[in-house]
Amino acid sequence: METNKTLDLHEITTENPLKVCFVCLGNICRSPTAEGAFQHLVNREGLSAYIEVDSAGTGAYHVGEPANSKSRMIAERNGVKLQSRARKFEYEDLEYFDLVLAMDSENLDDLKHLDRKQLYRNKLYLMREFDPSPGNMEVPDPYYGGINGFEDVFDMVMRSCEALLDQIRPHIRM
Ligand code: 4NP
Repeated sequence: METNKTLDLHEITTENPLKVCFVCLGNICRSPTAEGAFQHLVNREGLSAYIEVDSAGTGAYHVGEPANSKSRMIAERNGVKLQSRARKFEYEDLEYFDLVLAMDSENLDDLKHLDRKQLYRNKLYLMREFDPSPGNMEVPDPYYGGINGFEDVFDMVMRSCEALLDQIRPHIRM
Protein backbone atom coordinates (compact mmCIF):
# COMPACT_ATOMS: atom_id res chain seq x y z
CA MET A 1 0.00 0.00 0.00
CA GLU A 2 1.32 3.43 -0.89
CA THR A 3 1.38 6.10 1.78
CA ASN A 4 2.08 9.80 1.64
CA LYS A 5 4.69 9.68 4.36
CA THR A 6 7.94 7.77 4.90
CA LEU A 7 9.09 7.11 8.45
CA ASP A 8 12.64 7.16 9.74
CA LEU A 9 12.45 4.68 12.63
CA HIS A 10 14.85 2.85 14.92
CA GLU A 11 15.17 -0.93 14.73
CA ILE A 12 12.16 -2.24 16.65
CA THR A 13 12.73 -5.16 19.03
CA THR A 14 11.01 -6.38 22.20
CA GLU A 15 13.82 -4.62 24.14
CA ASN A 16 13.30 -1.42 22.19
CA PRO A 17 9.64 -1.33 21.17
CA LEU A 18 8.10 1.46 19.13
CA LYS A 19 5.90 3.72 21.24
CA VAL A 20 3.00 5.38 19.44
CA CYS A 21 0.57 7.93 20.86
CA PHE A 22 -2.53 9.28 19.10
CA VAL A 23 -3.65 12.76 20.11
CA CYS A 24 -6.88 14.76 19.75
CA LEU A 25 -8.54 17.47 21.83
CA GLY A 26 -10.73 15.62 24.33
CA ASN A 27 -9.26 12.09 24.14
CA ILE A 28 -12.77 10.68 24.09
CA CYS A 29 -13.64 10.40 20.36
CA ARG A 30 -10.91 10.48 17.69
CA SER A 31 -7.70 9.47 19.45
CA PRO A 32 -9.31 6.59 21.43
CA THR A 33 -10.70 5.35 18.12
CA ALA A 34 -7.22 5.52 16.58
CA GLU A 35 -5.67 3.85 19.62
CA GLY A 36 -8.26 1.04 19.51
CA ALA A 37 -7.99 0.57 15.74
CA PHE A 38 -4.19 0.47 15.79
CA GLN A 39 -4.05 -1.82 18.85
CA HIS A 40 -6.50 -4.13 17.06
CA LEU A 41 -4.17 -4.37 14.04
CA VAL A 42 -1.10 -4.78 16.24
CA ASN A 43 -2.75 -7.59 18.23
CA ARG A 44 -4.04 -9.29 15.11
CA GLU A 45 -0.49 -9.52 13.77
CA GLY A 46 0.97 -10.66 17.11
CA LEU A 47 3.07 -7.48 17.39
CA SER A 48 2.03 -6.25 20.83
CA ALA A 49 5.50 -6.91 22.29
CA TYR A 50 6.99 -4.66 19.58
CA ILE A 51 4.55 -1.76 19.45
CA GLU A 52 3.14 0.11 22.43
CA VAL A 53 -0.04 2.09 21.76
CA ASP A 54 -1.62 4.93 23.72
CA SER A 55 -3.70 8.07 23.25
CA ALA A 56 -4.12 11.42 25.00
CA GLY A 57 -5.81 14.79 24.61
CA THR A 58 -4.42 18.31 24.36
CA GLY A 59 -7.31 19.41 26.59
CA ALA A 60 -8.19 18.18 30.09
CA TYR A 61 -11.99 18.58 29.87
CA HIS A 62 -12.75 14.85 29.95
CA VAL A 63 -9.89 13.38 31.97
CA GLY A 64 -10.81 9.98 33.44
CA GLU A 65 -13.77 9.40 31.11
CA PRO A 66 -14.17 6.35 28.87
CA ALA A 67 -14.44 6.83 25.11
CA ASN A 68 -17.64 8.44 23.80
CA SER A 69 -20.53 5.94 23.52
CA LYS A 70 -20.98 6.59 19.77
CA SER A 71 -17.25 6.08 19.16
CA ARG A 72 -17.43 2.80 21.11
CA MET A 73 -20.51 1.62 19.26
CA ILE A 74 -19.04 2.27 15.79
CA ALA A 75 -15.76 0.66 16.79
CA GLU A 76 -17.47 -2.42 18.23
CA ARG A 77 -19.51 -2.77 15.06
CA ASN A 78 -16.13 -3.11 13.34
CA GLY A 79 -14.75 -5.58 15.88
CA VAL A 80 -12.68 -2.99 17.76
CA LYS A 81 -12.99 -2.45 21.50
CA LEU A 82 -12.17 1.02 22.88
CA GLN A 83 -10.81 0.68 26.40
CA SER A 84 -8.97 3.94 27.02
CA ARG A 85 -9.63 6.45 29.77
CA ALA A 86 -9.08 10.09 28.83
CA ARG A 87 -5.86 11.71 29.95
CA LYS A 88 -4.05 14.90 29.04
CA PHE A 89 -0.95 14.80 26.87
CA GLU A 90 2.00 16.07 28.92
CA TYR A 91 5.45 17.38 28.03
CA GLU A 92 7.03 14.10 29.22
CA ASP A 93 5.00 12.27 26.58
CA LEU A 94 6.99 14.09 23.89
CA GLU A 95 10.13 12.51 25.28
CA TYR A 96 8.62 9.07 25.88
CA PHE A 97 6.85 8.35 22.58
CA ASP A 98 8.57 7.74 19.24
CA LEU A 99 5.59 8.76 17.14
CA VAL A 100 2.90 11.24 18.11
CA LEU A 101 0.02 11.39 15.65
CA ALA A 102 -2.30 14.39 15.83
CA MET A 103 -5.86 14.12 14.53
CA ASP A 104 -6.09 17.67 13.19
CA SER A 105 -3.88 20.67 12.57
CA GLU A 106 -5.05 22.43 15.73
CA ASN A 107 -3.91 19.41 17.78
CA LEU A 108 -0.60 19.48 15.89
CA ASP A 109 -0.16 23.21 16.57
CA ASP A 110 -0.81 22.58 20.28
CA LEU A 111 1.81 19.82 20.31
CA LYS A 112 4.32 22.11 18.56
CA HIS A 113 3.60 24.77 21.15
CA LEU A 114 4.25 22.23 23.93
CA ASP A 115 7.52 21.31 22.17
CA ARG A 116 8.72 24.83 22.89
CA LYS A 117 12.42 23.99 22.55
CA GLN A 118 11.70 22.20 19.27
CA LEU A 119 13.41 19.00 20.43
CA TYR A 120 10.76 16.59 19.20
CA ARG A 121 9.55 17.98 15.87
CA ASN A 122 10.55 14.80 14.01
CA LYS A 123 8.13 12.73 16.14
CA LEU A 124 5.07 14.84 15.31
CA TYR A 125 2.74 13.91 12.46
CA LEU A 126 -0.82 14.36 11.33
CA MET A 127 -2.66 11.03 11.35
CA ARG A 128 -3.86 11.58 7.80
CA GLU A 129 -0.37 12.09 6.44
CA PHE A 130 -0.62 8.28 6.34
CA ASP A 131 -4.09 8.13 4.79
CA PRO A 132 -3.72 6.44 1.39
CA SER A 133 -7.03 7.94 0.19
CA PRO A 134 -6.69 11.42 -1.16
CA GLY A 135 -8.56 14.09 0.78
CA ASN A 136 -7.81 16.74 3.31
CA MET A 137 -5.41 16.15 6.18
CA GLU A 138 -7.83 16.52 9.07
CA VAL A 139 -9.70 13.93 11.12
CA PRO A 140 -12.67 16.20 11.87
CA ASP A 141 -14.04 16.50 15.38
CA PRO A 142 -17.29 14.45 15.45
CA TYR A 143 -18.31 15.49 18.97
CA TYR A 144 -21.13 17.91 18.15
CA GLY A 145 -22.34 16.18 14.97
CA GLY A 146 -24.38 13.11 14.03
CA ILE A 147 -23.48 9.45 13.83
CA ASN A 148 -22.15 9.79 10.25
CA GLY A 149 -19.27 11.88 11.54
CA PHE A 150 -18.26 9.08 13.92
CA GLU A 151 -18.46 6.52 11.10
CA ASP A 152 -16.28 8.72 8.90
CA VAL A 153 -13.75 9.10 11.71
CA PHE A 154 -13.55 5.33 12.16
CA ASP A 155 -13.03 4.72 8.43
CA MET A 156 -10.33 7.34 7.89
CA VAL A 157 -8.54 6.40 11.09
CA MET A 158 -8.61 2.66 10.34
CA ARG A 159 -7.21 3.02 6.81
CA SER A 160 -4.56 5.45 8.09
CA CYS A 161 -3.60 2.96 10.84
CA GLU A 162 -3.29 0.15 8.27
CA ALA A 163 -0.98 2.31 6.17
CA LEU A 164 0.99 3.36 9.24
CA LEU A 165 1.55 -0.27 10.22
CA ASP A 166 2.70 -1.00 6.66
CA GLN A 167 5.38 1.67 7.19
CA ILE A 168 6.40 0.32 10.59
CA ARG A 169 6.54 -3.42 9.77
CA PRO A 170 9.88 -3.39 7.86
CA HIS A 171 11.59 -1.87 10.92
CA ILE A 172 10.65 -4.78 13.21
CA ARG A 173 13.46 -7.24 13.97
CA MET A 174 11.89 -10.48 15.23
P1 4NP B 1 -12.15 14.43 20.52
O1 4NP B 1 -13.59 15.12 20.51
O2 4NP B 1 -11.13 15.56 20.52
O3 4NP B 1 -12.13 13.66 19.25
O4 4NP B 1 -12.09 13.58 21.76
C1 4NP B 1 -13.97 16.13 21.41
C2 4NP B 1 -14.52 15.77 22.61
C3 4NP B 1 -14.92 16.75 23.49
C4 4NP B 1 -14.79 18.09 23.16
C5 4NP B 1 -14.21 18.44 21.97
C6 4NP B 1 -13.81 17.46 21.09
N1 4NP B 1 -15.24 19.10 24.05
O5 4NP B 1 -15.15 20.28 23.70
O6 4NP B 1 -15.67 18.79 25.15
